[in-house]
Amino acid sequence: MEVSVSKILVIHGPNLNLLGQREKDIYGQTTLEEINDMLTKLACEHDVTLELLQSNHEGEIVDAIGAVKTNQISAILINPAAYTHTSVAIRDAIAAVDIPAIEVHLSNIYSREDFRHTSLIAPVCHGQISGFGVESYLLGLQATIHLIKQ
Ligand code: DQA
Repeated sequence: MEVSVSKILVIHGPNLNLLGQREKDIYGQTTLEEINDMLTKLACEHDVTLELLQSNHEGEIVDAIGAVKTNQISAILINPAAYTHTSVAIRDAIAAVDIPAIEVHLSNIYSREDFRHTSLIAPVCHGQISGFGVESYLLGLQATIHLIKQ
């Protein structure tokens, strides 16, 4: 008999491919590849698998969220990056699928410029973790795993 393993879709939004070189004083030195390695290790320890996506394109992110049912995804961990503050399309995509989403940010968006204080995504997420650097992702993944194992 085939045993099904839970799958989590991890989405990194625009410019997060530049982590490690981009505004290091705000986002730190860790590259996206290193973050993905840490997440994959944590996921393995909990017997879940990850589908990893980084995209600079809103439509590609919307498509990935819309495909969760087809791809048998149980939950979404998302750092929408700049789309946090602008994307009704990503918000609506999350609202349209019937699985939990957790929003994460490396920086504390509430201690930065005013335009970062509003997340259009947060109201359709189970919760948000913001301001702990790379640890935001690890805490976010732990919370996501906890949710799907409940
Ligand atoms: C970010 C915060 C956003 O405001 C910003 O546009 C990003 C990264 C973060 O992880 O701190 O690109 O999502």
